[in-house]
Amino acid sequence: MPSTVVVGAQWGDEGKGAVVDIYAAEADLIVRFQGGNNAGHTVFVGDEMFAMHLVPTGILRGKTCIIGNGVVVDPQGLVAEMRDLEARGVKVRENLLISENAHLVLPYHRALDAAEEAGRGASAIGTTLRGIGQAYADKYARCGIRAIEMTQPDLMRQKLAANLAQKNALLERVYGCEPLDFKEVYSEVAPACEELAPLVADTPVIINRALDEGKRVVFEGAQGTMLDADFGTYPYVTSSNPVAAAAGVGAGVSPKRLDAIVGVVKAYTTRVGAGPFPTECPAELAEKFRSQGREFGSTTGRPRRIGWFDAVVVRKAALLNGIQQLAVTHLDVLDQFERIPICVSYRCDGERRDIFPNSLEMLARCEPVYDEMPGWGQDTTGAKSACDLPPAARAYLDRLAHIAGATLCMVRVGPRRDQTIIVQV
Ligand code: IMP
Ligand code: MG
Repeated sequence: MPSTVVVGAQWGDEGKGAVVDIYAAEADLIVRFQGGNNAGHTVFVGDEMFAMHLVPTGILRGKTCIIGNGVVVDPQGLVAEMRDLEARGVKVRENLLISENAHLVLPYHRALDAAEEAGRGASAIGTTLRGIGQAYADKYARCGIRAIEMTQPDLMRQKLAANLAQKNALLERVYGCEPLDFKEVYSEVAPACEELAPLVADTPVIINRALDEGKRVVFEGAQGTMLDADFGTYPYVTSSNPVAAAAGVGAGVSPKRLDAIVGVVKAYTTRVGAGPFPTECPAELAEKFRSQGREFGSTTGRPRRIGWFDAVVVRKAALLNGIQQLAVTHLDVLDQFERIPICVSYRCDGERRDIFPNSLEMLARCEPVYDEMPGWGQDTTGAKSACDLPPAARAYLDRLAHIAGATLCMVRVGPRRDQTIIVQV
């Protein structure tokens, strides 16, 4: 398939980074199309761990990588991430391009994110405090600053000054916070912009040309369908569209050019931040998952909330994304359980409900209905092929693929690259 879109089918952290890393080995171009450095994609190269935030994971394979127009780019965050990767021997600027049309995340966005979250009190969203929502808000309010402005320092300076005056009024008068000092902000941001300017390009031209030439392109999603601003558990969502259709808009390619849609699920469910989570388990059980599953947010270090696999969620994600192939990650974390519940539907007001509701009030009245599958009580971390997996594990995987209405394409049984089972389709 010339192009493959990899998306998360739960609340993010499904292990998309590692799945994209496997696809990237065979790809020519890897493109991020939404989100910002709120994302945290963990990829292992040998025993070395990399936590990627803005740089597409394909960089670890020495492939050409693009930060698409749909992404919001924090120049300081990106430079720090690039330098960190380069200090570890990864070639970054030789292989990275940033879309001219990508919007920038600036210090006032981060300051406003913190002020707005504090203002929400008990109903805080639990954002990553990276200023993501505020940067997207400016994009649609048509006062954003784009990556192309990094190549025009005078214009950049003017826009920054104008925006800061307005944001300072908000920070001071609405939120009672200290204003930001223009000189300080400029002196932090300008060197990062200068460093990134040579990477700025008209990326849709490059991506479409690559597709014309029959090159293989992977579109790397961030976050997950249930955090989608349109389809997720609004307002407990992120401010972009992690669904597959957004790959077209966020990269500048026609939807006709998106060939394969790969959905990634964890063998169970996690969520970071606030908001509804029907299958969330009690703390003691969550702890059992957390120690083996390394369930701490890779951007913020927060412990993730954990629950059993929710088929209602994944059916919704399958429908919205058109998932054809399913990658299941973290299977090994279930090795320890004798019985494995799967939430097959909800019970709401005494009735069975198979479709995830859009009303959070209704969702709060939904109780998960579980069906138990037998566990396999056996270590799967060394499995190299589907034949190495115990029959109960294979039955569990088949069940997940059936729920998603997709073909199982990949199973991950640990964090390392060689803990990936490619399922022959
Ligand atoms: P924001 O994207 O920082 O505005 O955060 C909004 C919500 O999305 C919060 O619940 C975050 O925890 C969640 N979120 C944002 N990015 C990720 C991610 O990459 N993985 C998991 N959750 C995320
Ligand atoms: Mg993550």
